[in-house]
Amino acid sequence: MGKTDHIFDPRSIATHNGFMTKPIFILGSSRSFGNTRNVLMDVAGKADIPMIDLLTKRISFFDYNHHNQRDDFIPLVESLLAYDTIVLATPVYWYSMSAIMKIFIDRISDLITIRKDLGRQLNGKNLFVIASYGTSVPRGFEEAFAQTCVYMKMPYLGTSFFHSKPDTPDLCAANQQALEKARKLLFPVSVSDYPA
Ligand SMILES: Cc1cc2nc3c(=O)[nH]c(=O)nc-3n(C[C@H](O)[C@H](O)[C@H](O)COP(=O)(O)O)c2cc1C
Repeated sequence: MGKTDHIFDPRSIATHNGFMTKPIFILGSSRSFGNTRNVLMDVAGKADIPMIDLLTKRISFFDYNHHNQRDDFIPLVESLLAYDTIVLATPVYWYSMSAIMKIFIDRISDLITIRKDLGRQLNGKNLFVIASYGTSVPRGFEEAFAQTCVYMKMPYLGTSFFHSKPDTPDLCAANQQALEKARKLLFPVSVSDYPA
């Protein structure tokens, strides 16, 4: 391959606020203004990334009889279709994702049963996870997300873990690395990095 094969003008594929990817945050914490939201603010920086707070939505447990099909889940998924990277943000609660995030994930079952049409439209969308933890990164935390992505044919971009009180140099460095990883994946090339 010649050297020029990799050269492209990022402005030709910029889709959102001058960034190449078009991410949306889904916050799944038991509090709207806690540590997990603060992490999202840090990751976004000056970028205006839309955020859906699951705590403000009426989304109930998966129901085999689909009596809940008119709650907020389907409209929420429809609103995701305009984005190409879905960022799930959850605190670590008892070594796992939050219950509110798990309810959201369980409802993906609606998308492979009564709304397959909608489920198919998630194929190819990237998934990235942001997790806020207070003690340690739990073993196997990423598995549920990674395997869900395989099932849904969604590229899994990985997880950035952020300690909620980074009071040692090691924790500060780990948080900084997590921040850089998230930003690199979500904003791979900023148009402003290129001369006009
Ligand atoms: C119910 C509950 C369970 C928790 N379990 C863990 C855990 O297993 N491992 C851990 O490192 N931190 C745990 N924490 C600490 C949270 O992960 C941490 O404080 C996080 O930043 C909270 O984010 P939030 O403010 O969005 O809820 C737990 C906190 C709560 C409230």
